[in-house]
Amino acid sequence: MDSFLIKGGRPLEGDVHISGAKNSVLPIMAAALLTSEKCVIRRVPDLSDVRFMGQILESLGAKVKFDGDTVTIQASEIKGVGDYELIRKMRGSICILGPLTSRLGEAMVSLPGGCVIGARPVDLHLKGLAALGAKIQINNGYVHAAARRLKGAEVFLGGRSGPTVLGTGNVMMAATLADGVTKIESAACEPEVVDLADFLNAMGARITGAGSPTITITGVQSLHGAEHEAIPDRIETATFAIAAAATQGHVTIHGSRPEHLHAVLDKLKEAGVKVARSGATLKISRHGKLKPVDVTTLPYSGFPTDVQAQMMVLMALTPGISVITERIFESRFMHVSELARLGAEIAIEGPSAIVKGGRPLSGAPVMASDLRASAALVIAGLAAGGATQVNRVYHIDRGYEKIDDKLRQLGANIQRLEGL
Ligand code: EPU
Repeated sequence: MDSFLIKGGRPLEGDVHISGAKNSVLPIMAAALLTSEKCVIRRVPDLSDVRFMGQILESLGAKVKFDGDTVTIQASEIKGVGDYELIRKMRGSICILGPLTSRLGEAMVSLPGGCVIGARPVDLHLKGLAALGAKIQINNGYVHAAARRLKGAEVFLGGRSGPTVLGTGNVMMAATLADGVTKIESAACEPEVVDLADFLNAMGARITGAGSPTITITGVQSLHGAEHEAIPDRIETATFAIAAAATQGHVTIHGSRPEHLHAVLDKLKEAGVKVARSGATLKISRHGKLKPVDVTTLPYSGFPTDVQAQMMVLMALTPGISVITERIFESRFMHVSELARLGAEIAIEGPSAIVKGGRPLSGAPVMASDLRASAALVIAGLAAGGATQVNRVYHIDRGYEKIDDKLRQLGANIQRLEGL
């Protein structure tokens, strides 16, 4: 297992280019199962989660070819039973259930487990497919979904913590080949849902309303191959913006979609970070002290849960008290105890973290627990005095393309220690 050795205290300076969005690419790859024709997806980040989704599709019989940042998928002949162990390992793989059920009339997919950020049930995915007429059974750890042909229906997908992103995608994909019209109410509005709908429409689907809480899908007989370029990763963009602010740097971020990041950019400005926007380019800089801000994570277009951990580091460096409330995943505070090793003062009170900021951070060995927590630890290491070793960086390799190379180009002293 690799780790990162970071010698902190240097401001990040220079230019960084944003990769395609992992959370768009994963369901879009699954959508390629809806047709026997060839699909080409561009701006695909080189990430372990993406390669893993490729393996899952191959295990179902699809041909998958990676070439630079392009992946070509052809699912001419596929089966509906996924490899139990392979699918169980990545939660995002649940989004093959909708396309397989819709195209083949039957699918068996292992239930993804919980993970360190929370219980992460899939009841809403199953409720949606059942509303379209699929008979759902859970046996021996598998979800078995069957329907001769799915039928359009009205589906309410609001859950305890709001809408579901992958659940909306799953039901939307299933409904493309259903008989009649499906209306998803309380649909997730995330840009990744819109990106998936754009790809499905390019395949011949008839979807309107993606990006709003009501999505309407008129079923068609079949879908055809399509080409698509994934949107830039808004979470990677936010991570570099916060890293620039945390290290008192000046960073120009290229190839982003700032309109997907209003909530984050607004909070950064409120905290005293300079944010200049011009088209797809963002210039982030910071001079002097920051102000504490309170943040609550919410479904899009609110502040993303995937940026909560990184924002906490910035607040730990900011004199005063900031309150960060997590409303999407109940246990997403694993980074707090690791940040404490670097000297951060953070107390958990129910769904909130009370950050007493302003103490300088000092390097220490820390353990990455999940993807975004790892990114937060890297930012903390860059801002801290001395050396920080972030262990178990395979978590970060799941979702950030070449983050160590990109940070080195910005002047960071970060080294990958292989096998440590
Ligand atoms: N939920 C249910 N029932 C369901 C599905 C979800 O109660 O059937 C709950 C969840 O437990 C959670 C809330 O609804 O409390 C929202 O979960 P959602 O379903 O939206 O999450 P997801 O679709 O499984 C995606 C991203 C996550 C991101 C969340 C929220 C992918 C592959 N994953 O997960 O990304 O945090 O949306 O925006 O798209 C990450 O990239 O680090 C990551 C965890």
